[in-house]
Amino acid sequence: MCGIVAYVGSKPVAPVLIEGLKRLEYRGYDSAGVAVAPGPDQGVVVGRSVGRVSVLESLVDKDPDRYEGCLGIAHTRWATHGAVTEHNAHPHTGRTRCGHTVALVHNGIIENYATLRKYLESKGHDFYSETDTEVLCKLIAELYDGDLEAAAQKALQEVTGAYALAVICDREPHTLVAARKGSPLIIGIADNAYVVASDQSAIVAHTTQVIHLNDYQVARLCAGPLDKHKDPPAPWAVDFRTTTLENEIVSQEITELEMDLQQIELAGYEHYMLKEIMEQPEAIRTCLRGRIDQREGRVVLGGLNGLARDLVRAKRFIMTGQGTAYHAGIIGEYLMEDVAKVPARAAYASEFRYRNPIIEDGSVIVAISQSGETADTLAALHEAKERGALALGAVNVVGSTISRETDAGVYLRVGPEIGVASTKAFLGQVAVLTLMALYVGKRKYLSTTDAASYLAEFARVPDHIAKIVEHSDQIRDCVKQVVDRNNWLFLGRGYNYPVALEGALKLKELSYIHAEGMPAAEMKHGPIALIDEGMPVVFVATQGSQYDKVISNIEEVKARGGRILAVATEGDSHITRYCEDGFVFFVPHVPEPLQPLLTVVPLQLLAYHAAVIRGHDVDKPRNLAKSVTVE
Ligand code: M6R
Repeated sequence: MCGIVAYVGSKPVAPVLIEGLKRLEYRGYDSAGVAVAPGPDQGVVVGRSVGRVSVLESLVDKDPDRYEGCLGIAHTRWATHGAVTEHNAHPHTGRTRCGHTVALVHNGIIENYATLRKYLESKGHDFYSETDTEVLCKLIAELYDGDLEAAAQKALQEVTGAYALAVICDREPHTLVAARKGSPLIIGIADNAYVVASDQSAIVAHTTQVIHLNDYQVARLCAGPLDKHKDPPAPWAVDFRTTTLENEIVSQEITELEMDLQQIELAGYEHYMLKEIMEQPEAIRTCLRGRIDQREGRVVLGGLNGLARDLVRAKRFIMTGQGTAYHAGIIGEYLMEDVAKVPARAAYASEFRYRNPIIEDGSVIVAISQSGETADTLAALHEAKERGALALGAVNVVGSTISRETDAGVYLRVGPEIGVASTKAFLGQVAVLTLMALYVGKRKYLSTTDAASYLAEFARVPDHIAKIVEHSDQIRDCVKQVVDRNNWLFLGRGYNYPVALEGALKLKELSYIHAEGMPAAEMKHGPIALIDEGMPVVFVATQGSQYDKVISNIEEVKARGGRILAVATEGDSHITRYCEDGFVFFVPHVPEPLQPLLTVVPLQLLAYHAAVIRGHDVDKPRNLAKSVTVE
């Protein structure tokens, strides 16, 4: 999704902005731009380009003197209103009535932009783009009367929709104004500077002290020399305040980012996705640390303190999320019913919120999200809360909107995920949902012995994952032989059905191969018609209650010429008779509720290698955004 970086402070601004945009590249975008205010009444210099940030960087590097200044804003755009063109790229600009320039970057959607545009046209503003953002910028310019903060407050009172924005004006070359409603925005408080960004990865190089702006809040950030005429120059003065749209002061808590720069670097890997797959053993170890008491057969979840009784009495769990997080939600549904014996269902957040859902007394909604910013998931959460549900989060990004708007929750603790395709966050989501199910189950029906035995197996999962990722080369060699096929099926039963969905999603989004995941039994009800000579069909066929049935499905595919790839349990020699050499990816044996934590890993590697072999940009697949903050 679109990314914002803005800076006011003592450093030359252009390199700071470009570096920040590079850190946001993983979110997905199609064009980029910067605007710098060189000094009082000197206008605003804007550079925009279609394509990668490197194109914008060359533009700025060609003429560095033009982009000199200590105040600036920058943006990566993921087109919503208007085509992917330089004109539509942000920052956008507007002229104030006193002849100054306002420049603005914006994430979100201004819903009443058409009405506002008509009004502004009647006031003499000419529009050069098709964007809602230009309308917002010109509205602030129209209302500007020497005070940028006041103009922004007034303009935002007229706006419906969602926004995170940063705005500057050349009349105030040491002032940056930022605001949010519905789209994330974080303010970093650095030495002699403020950095504003839509994502913490663009802030962490400067500071770990941050403020998370809330909806309908405006921040005015000022940084400039106390007296620029002094020799030697006087120290810098910094000052910020946050207000409501009605200009009432709101106090803000400064929090510490739980992220360091090293975590978001490649550390020698060719791609973030591969790094994140390989990091999974450690990520899950960290996720489980301190949360498993094997001797007592207890799960310890500090984030749920004080809620144990409500959770034991809960009548229904609703697992909600989108994409990969939704797949984790289906596993959560199975776990809650199987392990904790509580009715549960998984629902796409986007469907849940609009279908007038029935929330009975004792309902608990679990919002599952890596970013904690997915618009649909957030909306579903609001809907369920309004209807009386207890709201829990299973979120990775600390301090994100979903994590703040839930009543309680359990962080994934798997570290930053930069690759657009979710891998370690999926494992983290499944691990947290497993912990939640055991937490509730132990308080209801699970004996201490059974719980302790699950937990002992759970604690060994990171070592098992470490063994699986060692087979990356075998998976690559297998994939090479089938990667030219453009239609694949992924099949599984029980806990491995959502894993099949996830395997298909990974392959689709990275390699642009058409793939479908479904319950293995469903194949006979239609999709079997697709199977022809050589079609790759991936079975998640580990040993468990439905193993024999999966083998029957394998035989059905084999009889029709399908090429079988299988994820199977170590020591299963039977399955090899259906597959060519190297086409079975073995995982260690674990109880069925823990199997998704292992069986998904070969499928992540399969999708990764398929994309690399087909020559795609693994970390930034086409058309995709890391965090989807619009509906
Ligand atoms: O940040 P979230 O977990 O809420 O994101 C949800 C989905 O957008 C995300 O999982 C998406 O499906 C990924 N591209 C999957 O790899």
